[in-house]
Amino acid sequence: MCGIVGYTGRQQAAPILLDGLERLEYRGYDSAGIAVLSPEKGLQVRKAKGRLKVLEALTDGGKSLDGMMGIGHTRWATHGEPNDVNSHPHLSEDERIAVVHNGIIENYVELKSFLVSTGVSFRSETDTEVVAQLLGYYYRRCGNILEAVYRVLDRIEGAYALGILCADLPDSFIAARKDAPLLLGYGDGCSFIASDVTAMLRHTRDVAYMEDGEVAVVSPEKIVVYNALGAEVEKEHHTVDWDVSDAEKGGYAHFMFKEIMEQPDAIRKTVSPRIRDHRIVFDELKMSKEELCAFNKLYIVACGSSYHVGMVGKYNLERLLRMQVDIALASEFRYADPLVDEKTLVIVISQSGETLDTMAALRKAKRLGARILSIVNVVGSSIARESDDVLYTWAGPEIAVATTKAYSTQLVLLDMFGIYLAELFGKLPYFLYDELIGELLALPSKMERILENTEQIKYLASRSFNRDSIFFIGRNLDYALGLEGSLKLKEISYVHCEAYAAGELKHGTISLIVDGTLVVALCTYKALFDKSVSNIVEVKSRGADVIALTDESLADALSKTVSNILTIPDTHPIFAPSLGVVPLQIFAYYVALQRGCDIDKPRNLAKSVTVE
Ligand code: AGP
Repeated sequence: MCGIVGYTGRQQAAPILLDGLERLEYRGYDSAGIAVLSPEKGLQVRKAKGRLKVLEALTDGGKSLDGMMGIGHTRWATHGEPNDVNSHPHLSEDERIAVVHNGIIENYVELKSFLVSTGVSFRSETDTEVVAQLLGYYYRRCGNILEAVYRVLDRIEGAYALGILCADLPDSFIAARKDAPLLLGYGDGCSFIASDVTAMLRHTRDVAYMEDGEVAVVSPEKIVVYNALGAEVEKEHHTVDWDVSDAEKGGYAHFMFKEIMEQPDAIRKTVSPRIRDHRIVFDELKMSKEELCAFNKLYIVACGSSYHVGMVGKYNLERLLRMQVDIALASEFRYADPLVDEKTLVIVISQSGETLDTMAALRKAKRLGARILSIVNVVGSSIARESDDVLYTWAGPEIAVATTKAYSTQLVLLDMFGIYLAELFGKLPYFLYDELIGELLALPSKMERILENTEQIKYLASRSFNRDSIFFIGRNLDYALGLEGSLKLKEISYVHCEAYAAGELKHGTISLIVDGTLVVALCTYKALFDKSVSNIVEVKSRGADVIALTDESLADALSKTVSNILTIPDTHPIFAPSLGVVPLQIFAYYVALQRGCDIDKPRNLAKSVTVE
């Protein structure tokens, strides 16, 4: 999705903006642009379709643009094709106001016809240009840019994070937000805005999160924030503890591989602080034990891989708690009539904490009276702030579009929460509780064992990379695991693949299995091992080429049926997906590598999906 960065300070702005935009590249984009203001040269705008390299070349790495204040943008096209003209910043007709925008202005058609009727002519096909032109319209009438901003915000509908540069405001720019993330950064003699903290991490860790309806006037020495009514508000500052190096490749060819390798540590950081005296402790939970015990249903809501975490969670939590656990895709939940009320705890899962559908689902659940507990990676993100309770994953910044360490930490945290509740509800015998804690603590080192030797996975990927179609099959937790394995593969390698509950094969899908079809059979769920082996026999007898994944202790038994076997260390069944996902991530990575794909920035995908 689009990215925004803005800077005002004592240094040349353009190189800082380009560096910030580079940090936002991972979000996905198809064009980029910057606008810089200098007393001598006025408003200078440069924008270009394609990678940031093109814009860097156009501006000599930013050196050719004078000025110590500016705004920058990476665009992920929604309204109008990716080209130079549709790229941001967009200008008012008199070219005295420049605007960058994340989100969608829903009533732009109506506003555009109004402006055209007043004689304004448009240059681009975007919804964003309406904001720039409307600002120009009001500014011409009232002569005060802040007032013009408020008038525009009154008229536009939809979601927006805005950065606004006005030629008549020499050292401040304006920012505004509604339903799209925007942060303020407080540096030493300089200030920032950014849609994502990674864009300013090199310059400051002191940040504040803009709330819906707020407008900020950003100057080098201070940032003044006003609410929707124009009253000044005091912002709460947060210190970001992510390392700059966390958001760099550190010698790896791709962020995705680095992040796969970081998983044991990310799990340690997420789990260890929450275990004391061999017991799970959630100090951060605001809900009391009595309140937790009063819920009669859990409802998990999320998108994409976070939803797949929820799928594993549904199996595990129902088993541990003997309580109803529903799950829905956030994009479906928000427009459905879900059975949710004040007795429901809705568990919202989101790495970014900014996914628009997930946010809308959260708000719907709240309106229906439910309490919200979210599992989020980005501290202070919108979903975290609107939840009644947050459990943070401590995965650090995840840059690759395909999630790995965020998935793993979400999963382990959801399992922990399940074990915590089961103990609270009196549903766990103490010996089982003890065993689960032991296994939880052993997960990082077991994961390290998988990561120590990836040669066989690499070899199997080299034999599979040119397939047109791949099927993942599994039962129960292995089915949930297959959903993630298949998504990983399709998003980065563009190979068509599907995950099926193995028991469903006979109900249709088996017709697609022919000589040489690759089937990845997941057999880590011990209780249904024999059933899964039967499914393997079934597909093999139709000519399928099978790669199987199973626990070390079951490998021998499986070798009678399959020759290509990947193994994971044995663990308690509820944690098998946490280990099983690792070989599947690595397999997807090597298949994509062999196919020459842009692994960290797969086509058409964005890291944080802030539009519907
Ligand atoms: C997974 O690799 C994807 N990038 C995607 O499915 C992602 O999990 C989904 O968009 C949800 O994002 P969130 O966790 O930030 O809400």
